[in-house]
Amino acid sequence: IRCQSTSTDEPKTKMNLFDNASNLLTNMLSGGSIGSMPIAEGAVSDLFDRPLFFSLYDWFIKYGSVYKLAFGPKAFVVVSDPIVARYILRENAFSYDKGVLAEILEPIMGKGLIPADLDTWKQRRRVIAPGFHSSYLEAMARLFTDCADRTVLKFDKLLEQEESRGGKAIELDLEAEFSSLALDIIGLGVFNYDFGSISKESPVIQAVYGTLFEAEHRSTFYIPYWKIPLARWLVPRQRKFQNDLKVINDCLDGLIQNAKETREEADVEKLQQRDYLNLKDASLLRFLVDMRGVDVDDRQLRDDLMTMLIAGHETTAAVLTWAVFLLAQHPVKMKKAQSEIDAVLGQGRTTFESLKKLEYLRLIVVESLRLYPQPPLLIRRSLKSDKLPGGYNGDKDGYEIPAGTDVFLSVYNLHRSPYLWDKPNEFEPERFLVPKESSIEGWAGFDPSRSPGALYPNEIISDFAFLPFGGGPRKCVGDQFALMESTIALAMLLQKFDVELRGSPESVELVTGATIHTKTGLWCKLKKRSNL
Ligand code: HEM
Repeated sequence: IRCQSTSTDEPKTKMNLFDNASNLLTNMLSGGSIGSMPIAEGAVSDLFDRPLFFSLYDWFIKYGSVYKLAFGPKAFVVVSDPIVARYILRENAFSYDKGVLAEILEPIMGKGLIPADLDTWKQRRRVIAPGFHSSYLEAMARLFTDCADRTVLKFDKLLEQEESRGGKAIELDLEAEFSSLALDIIGLGVFNYDFGSISKESPVIQAVYGTLFEAEHRSTFYIPYWKIPLARWLVPRQRKFQNDLKVINDCLDGLIQNAKETREEADVEKLQQRDYLNLKDASLLRFLVDMRGVDVDDRQLRDDLMTMLIAGHETTAAVLTWAVFLLAQHPVKMKKAQSEIDAVLGQGRTTFESLKKLEYLRLIVVESLRLYPQPPLLIRRSLKSDKLPGGYNGDKDGYEIPAGTDVFLSVYNLHRSPYLWDKPNEFEPERFLVPKESSIEGWAGFDPSRSPGALYPNEIISDFAFLPFGGGPRKCVGDQFALMESTIALAMLLQKFDVELRGSPESVELVTGATIHTKTGLWCKLKKRSNL
């Protein structure tokens, strides 16, 4: 990695014509020098050598919590600082939009919440967020349990077959299994559609994976050739992408039509009384159609559903993947989790109520999200010129940034910052129970009591050092849904099985698109629990 330690005022140590020209262009594009912000400079090839967030971490340690990254003509401000993150996400949130991310996702999600323009976002967020209230989540806890049960039954069956051949363990790619489970859950929970993906393949399932694959390709491919006129017809993968989109859109359109045609006043009453447990269909789509009447715009509804399908699927599957990866390396913690499960559930099912007692499991889920945040970077673009606060180890006066500045908020760096966490790279779920005083001016440190009643640690207790779901007005709407889903799925897996990695932890290679996932799957050995 070619990285020069220099501020804008210092002479460069290595320079050639190309560097000069590209810096000039960088400065022109980003509106001139950004005060005294340190600059990390990389070759474009650095982007392809390893996941970008690893390099961003090294540069964070070298250049501080706010630095500018220049790749040829492209420049980004990289933020790894809770004070600056809090400012961008909460205090001055509406001076930023999703920038590059919206450009990548708009062809897939249309005017869904993630890429939507501010006016659409305001209107839709007001309609969608109330759908995730506690009665819905209670009904979802039942759904999560039912779906996780199907996965457990599948593993049970495979183990029985193996035992009949004299074997004791099965080998499975748990990442793929979690992906199927999360897809089934999001389909049923958001639009009452059973993908049934843990047991079968279908054109819709293939189309969902195809679309996710393309979203990932676009987020890691730096030349947006798909915007070239005719590319969507001439480039085979773009043609396939258009076909995949059509398959999903047709499916969603059918579900929306069906929801409108089957709207019943009796269900609307139950919804209004929050009587979710007695509804046949407790999905979010039912809520969106029933509470707003049938005249709601079909296209907008489709964009909303598509957004939640994409936003809520791979992310949750990734949390489960990394939670198992970490637990498999910490057998003592795995046993501790299993003891908690035995004490709370015995051989029974998980429920909304039992979640409250599964404290260690909940901490495992959030600690996995700390070490492997999904996505590892949040992306913003300034809509007008702004002044960022100085942060804790940069220029105390802060930095002026021009309109149009692209910002990467590195959640990965925040979550592993040696300045904010003790033993930042270690898997210590218990850490969330202990307050941490702050010696950093402007950062309030870590205090679990700051968010009374919250089941899971969040950005408030950590004053924006822990941001697994973002923060401020654009915070994830599905955070509690996802956390409960992950806790239930993990509890049901560990209730029945002991899990080991098939190879060494080092052999599990990371790749990133929107989420951090493995290169070739999380191959594990599953055995019936020895002490059952
Ligand atoms: C936004 C993470 C699951 C729906 C976000 C953001 C993050 C995030 C970090 C903020 C992005 C930003 O500020 O740029 C996660 C993680 C999940 C998860 C880690 C799983 C563990 C879900 C689920 C749903 C969902 C299950 C829906 C059922 C959304 C939506 C937004 C969002 C709609 C956009 C919110 C807005 O802009 O108003 N998510 N998410 N997410 N998430 Fe999630």
